[in-house]
Amino acid sequence: MVCLGNICRSPLAEGIAGQLAVERGLDWVFDSASTSGWHDGNPPDVRSIRVAAQHGLDISRQQSRKLVPQDYHDFDLIIAMDSENMQNMTKIAPPDGRAKLRMMLDFVDPGMNAQVPDPYLGGDDGFLHVYNLLLDACSAMLDELQGETQAT
Ligand code: 4NP
Repeated sequence: MVCLGNICRSPLAEGIAGQLAVERGLDWVFDSASTSGWHDGNPPDVRSIRVAAQHGLDISRQQSRKLVPQDYHDFDLIIAMDSENMQNMTKIAPPDGRAKLRMMLDFVDPGMNAQVPDPYLGGDDGFLHVYNLLLDACSAMLDELQGETQAT
């Protein structure tokens, strides 16, 4: 799960996907990273921690880190929160890594190029909106991926 700072959107995506996977009995690994490296080592934004906690999810122990080329080998999918992230992820992808890139909201609105909006400069309602978008998208993602793994 990748966004600009890895302190607002992608930590929520990591936490939500992980919690939904556990609820489904899936032993899958989720992680998150930034394209900027600006907040390396920092915990999530307090507003993300708060909206997660309001939904029974603890993301407070996550630490921001920058996306690295090795991630394209370690993970099956690398998921962008918005198109700017996607452009940067495409730039640093190894040639065989581009096929692993997806837009987060593509799982709910395929082909629409919809964006998880950056809530950083807004208030708590923006974080709640992001939480709800990510809950839908992560649920749709697991539906799709579980379908694929059962089909193979
Ligand atoms: P995120 O939000 O990409 O969802 O983690 C942001 C966090 C920090 C900044 C911008 C967006 N920033 O400009 O520092």
